[in-house]
Amino acid sequence: MLNKEEFAGFESHEYRPIIRSQSMKVLRQLVEERKPTKILEIGTFIGYSASVMLDANKDAYLITLEKDKQNSLDAVKNLTEQGFVGRFEVVNCDALEYLQENLQTQFDLIFLDGPKGQYYKYFPYLKMMLKSGGVLVADDVLFYGLVESKEKIEHKHRSLVNNLRKFLAVLDEDEDFETEVLNFDNGMSVSIKK
Ligand SMILES: C[S@@+](CC[C@H](N)C(=O)[O-])C[C@H]1O[C@@H](n2cnc3c(N)ncnc32)[C@H](O)[C@@H]1O
Repeated sequence: MLNKEEFAGFESHEYRPIIRSQSMKVLRQLVEERKPTKILEIGTFIGYSASVMLDANKDAYLITLEKDKQNSLDAVKNLTEQGFVGRFEVVNCDALEYLQENLQTQFDLIFLDGPKGQYYKYFPYLKMMLKSGGVLVADDVLFYGLVESKEKIEHKHRSLVNNLRKFLAVLDEDEDFETEVLNFDNGMSVSIKK
């Protein structure tokens, strides 16, 4: 497998929002252990986390959603060069629109790594699209510690932090899910659907 630095498109981005190393290890381990054959990812960027998941289970098929056209093209190039042809689809779209139009599609694992402020809006759709026994993984849910902070949140982060708090509260209250929030990197929630 390529290092993320070797991915096409990596150098052209000043800000490189790629999954951090410990979160990546947990994601890989989850895929290795649970062997999901149908995976949905929200937020492809240039395909790094997608490649980790495809590598972790050779029987997995992955659909990944990315709203930026150039990122989508880079991701297709990167995943193709790594030999994953026929095992993935990069959909250049807005994630919410895709979810609303594909509610009948079922997944064994969903990795949520798109716009953090939208997670709580996606949740009802993701719940319907996740099979019983499936796992919903969401990255960056603690957002630099701000989500658990008791301090006043700066205006520029306030709505994002409030929306992440809403997402975690919804997960916590949903009796159909067993959720654990892992407190490393930027925080990652792992929720198993009963
Ligand atoms: C954190 S990055 C994904 C990183 C990738 N999962 C990885 O670790 O290699 C988030 C991505 O979500 C995309 N994104 C943002 N808003 C989106 C939306 N509404 N629908 C689909 N993708 C979106 C961004 O363009 C960005 O590439």
